[in-house]
Amino acid sequence: MAQNRSSFTGKIGFVLAAAGSAVGLGNIWRFPYLAAKYGGGIFLLVYLILAVTFGFALMCAEIAIGRKTGQSAINAFKSLDKRFAFVGVLGAVIPAIILPYYSVIGGWVTKYLFAFASGDAAASASDTYFTGFIAKPFEPIGWFLVFMGLTALVVLFGVEKGVEKVSKIMMPVLVVLTIVIAVYSVTIDGAMEGVKYYLMPDFSRFSATTVLAAMGQLFYSMSLAMGIMITYGSYMKKDVSIEKSVHQIEIFDTGIAFLAGLMIIPAVFAFSGGDEAALGKGPSLMFITLPKVFNSMPGGAFIGGAFFLLVLFAALTSSISLMETVVSIVRDKLGWGRKTACLAVFVFCIVLGIPSSLGFGVWDFISVAGLSILDMFDFVSNSVLMPIVALFTCIFIGYVIKPKAIIEELEVGAPFKAKTLFTIIIKYVAPVCIILILVSSILDVLGVAKI
Ligand code: PHE
Repeated sequence: MAQNRSSFTGKIGFVLAAAGSAVGLGNIWRFPYLAAKYGGGIFLLVYLILAVTFGFALMCAEIAIGRKTGQSAINAFKSLDKRFAFVGVLGAVIPAIILPYYSVIGGWVTKYLFAFASGDAAASASDTYFTGFIAKPFEPIGWFLVFMGLTALVVLFGVEKGVEKVSKIMMPVLVVLTIVIAVYSVTIDGAMEGVKYYLMPDFSRFSATTVLAAMGQLFYSMSLAMGIMITYGSYMKKDVSIEKSVHQIEIFDTGIAFLAGLMIIPAVFAFSGGDEAALGKGPSLMFITLPKVFNSMPGGAFIGGAFFLLVLFAALTSSISLMETVVSIVRDKLGWGRKTACLAVFVFCIVLGIPSSLGFGVWDFISVAGLSILDMFDFVSNSVLMPIVALFTCIFIGYVIKPKAIIEELEVGAPFKAKTLFTIIIKYVAPVCIILILVSSILDVLGVAKI
């Protein structure tokens, strides 16, 4: 086991840091859009069921692997079984791919916060503001560097003084801002239509795709299958209950996602007069539609500023977890100090992030299967590598080291109640579901019919 391994000071520190990783752009931007698209209440229900079964089992498993071995992904798998070291390697590649492009988007968020704070809110509501901004060669890179720099600064301070401390400040602020904006949003004129649209189950829009979309979102949202929870588990003290912590992280993650829907969907409905097409797709919702919505409401510049501050906090705590994971792997593998590892990862991210940023402007001629450079990184990491790592993790635990080995670790701090559920999910349910996700997302991008 690594000597001098840093650790979270206690349960709250661990839960807030892990929740900080889980709550990110995915909760605030992607979840509301998916919920609206896939049947409102029915999507929420499917998501919730999957979270407390599937998500719960996988997150417990990853944290337990980390705490049991006291190592980050690569070494953790290797120390349990040499033949499965490759799963750790794949798991380590994922955060290294995600961090650069996630930070490019983090840079956009920083830019919008700055625009709102400096009285530029009205300008950001114009049709071409966003597309004009991301197509510029230098400005988005500048904001990307600012965001990346903030992330690196926190990671440089280490687990206790950096990651934990920042999470303890940012996460409560994030919760308060989310609640305030959600309450404001549901009370504007015309918002009730949107609340109904979001919460009422529309069974006609329920299909296998609803389940797959919910599952894909769940993975991403809980930061699973990319070594993050293994790394954070390795910093967790033995007397903390993994099961209880996972419940709390899930409440955080799902709660914020749910509230984000309440924050965004009713406001967009009120603005568009009930036209659901305004919920749009991808980046346009957060960066084009919402600034227009804020611009149209009383006190919108202020609410918009608060909104982008909360998004920035959500994105920062996630990028911090990504960087901490990569730094931790570099340190475990190469024996480097924190400073050197941080610097190396920082430089690496700049090299990989710049093309993602340029892909919306001067390099927009580069595209594969219709995807921009940033979308390509996103597709490879989230839709291909993540399911593969999750699948092998389940096979590894279910059939190689056996669920019992992990359950033992889950029982160290406190009794683990969900043993049977855990075993069934890891051995049978999860592998089948994950294969379905993988196949469907690949078919999807190839433009073949969806399952
Ligand atoms: N879980 C984060 C979200 O919901 C995304 C994330 C992905 C964070 C990968 C870290 C790593 O946005």
